[in-house]
Amino acid sequence: MEMKNQYSRRNFLKISGLLAAFVAIPTSVKAFYNDVKQYFIPKKNVSKLTISVNKKTHTLYADSRSTLLDLLREQLHLTGSKKGCDHGQCGACTVHIDGERALSCLTLAAMTEGKEITTIEGLGNGDELHPMQKAFVECDGFQCGYCTPGQIMSAVACVNEGHTGSVEEIKEYMSGNLCRCGAYNGIVESIQKVAAL
Ligand code: FES
Ligand code: FES
Repeated sequence: MEMKNQYSRRNFLKISGLLAAFVAIPTSVKAFYNDVKQYFIPKKNVSKLTISVNKKTHTLYADSRSTLLDLLREQLHLTGSKKGCDHGQCGACTVHIDGERALSCLTLAAMTEGKEITTIEGLGNGDELHPMQKAFVECDGFQCGYCTPGQIMSAVACVNEGHTGSVEEIKEYMSGNLCRCGAYNGIVESIQKVAAL
């Protein structure tokens, strides 16, 4: 009777081990197949895209409904551009497309084929900060920092566009970038500082 119990327990362990392997192998095969499918088998609504981001060319597959902001953050892992409202109302996602400021949450990634995109990560020169980044630090142009990448990208464009004639003009042309910390005085001061260089 004792022998029979041991025999049954051993068999039970063997069978459960086999069952676990049987379940685990197809799961990993399926995950591998999904990875391969994502990158190598074009699907409906997925298109191949070649874009230049911060002077680096990327060829990738993107959902044709994907925004540039999602592509930057989720596929290229460039998380400097922030998702504030995702509705074009806060400016936290501002990037430059061919040198012009644009809201990446309102831009379809598929429309940026062949364009040069610059994000906050590509604004400086290697380890050296862009003058506007330095000015934000020196003039206390931020507190929590969440809006700051978008503010800086807009501020650089504001200077390039020549809209720095007065405090009122700067405020007008920076009005698409909201700061919940209220660091507006420092932001205006930073822009004035860079405009005077
Ligand atoms: S996240 Fe794009 S404008 Fe707010
Ligand atoms: S620094 Fe906090 S939201 Fe602008």
